[in-house]
Amino acid sequence: MIEVNNLTFSYPKNSTPTVKGINFNIGKGEIFGFLGPSGSGKSTTQKILYKLLPNYQGNISIKGQDLKSWSKEFYQFIGVSFELPNHYLKLSAVENLRFFSSFYQNPIDSFEELLEKVGLKEDANKRVANFSKGMKMRLNFIRSFMHDPDILFLDEPTAGLDPVNARIIKDIILDLKSKGKTIFITTHSMYDADELCDRVALIINGNIKAIDQPETLKLKHGKNIVEVQVEGQNEVLSYELNHIGQNQDFLNLLANNNIRTIHSKEASLEDVFIKITGESLV
Ligand SMILES: Nc1ncnc2c1ncn2[C@@H]1O[C@H](COP(=O)(O)OP(=O)(O)O)[C@@H](O)[C@H]1O
Ligand SMILES: [Mg+2]
Repeated sequence: MIEVNNLTFSYPKNSTPTVKGINFNIGKGEIFGFLGPSGSGKSTTQKILYKLLPNYQGNISIKGQDLKSWSKEFYQFIGVSFELPNHYLKLSAVENLRFFSSFYQNPIDSFEELLEKVGLKEDANKRVANFSKGMKMRLNFIRSFMHDPDILFLDEPTAGLDPVNARIIKDIILDLKSKGKTIFITTHSMYDADELCDRVALIINGNIKAIDQPETLKLKHGKNIVEVQVEGQNEVLSYELNHIGQNQDFLNLLANNNIRTIHSKEASLEDVFIKITGESLV
């Protein structure tokens, strides 16, 4: 669905490029993530992909067609959720949705179901000026998928949300994936990247340092051991995971002791990020 080759971008007044020759592809039905700290170039890359920043170098093809040759029709099949919600504060939630949906070919008759999905049904006719940040973000999120686009660009969709609201958004993202949508998200949360992404790109200072499935990255960069603590002992024992079922010491330990804790030691995505980039995610 999306192919990016050798993409480089500089903001006019900056001396160094913000995006430095990056390459990635996103397949149909995939959730692909950019995981990186603030300022690494995530939003800039997305803005290039939805044609907000036209002066880039490199090649971008979306649905098999060069991005530069797509007409306005492009916006019919993509959906965008900006990092910061931008609503008309004097209008109600429904009025905002009605206004933004008027740009699309097929009118949307009822917003009730959409508002209910994100827990805003009761607030449909309230002015957005009186909404909390979480409410504004959920309303913003509806705008990314209300016109049933094939490709979604979601910039930090859960940033700053409390766990309940973040859960609502993540469940909708997973539901959109189950409907075959192609989803490109940015995040600096290793938990979101881990839970949502089929593949994740680790991005820092405008460079992609690795692209892989979260599971593969964690296994590749973690330790292949289990650590066990038995009741009454402070010592942490460790055993090679390979052929652990034939390791008589390990089996005896399980048979003859009460186990307090037992953990395999795959890395977290944050560990992987630090190992590969030398920097942390915050
Ligand atoms: N409009 C702009 N003009 C100049 N520099 C910008 C602009 N927008 C972003 N930048 C710079 O580009 C870099 C990457 O920003 P951004 O893509 O927003 O990162 P991220 O989304 O990963 O936090 C930052 O150093 C930021 O200061
Ligand atoms: Mg950003």
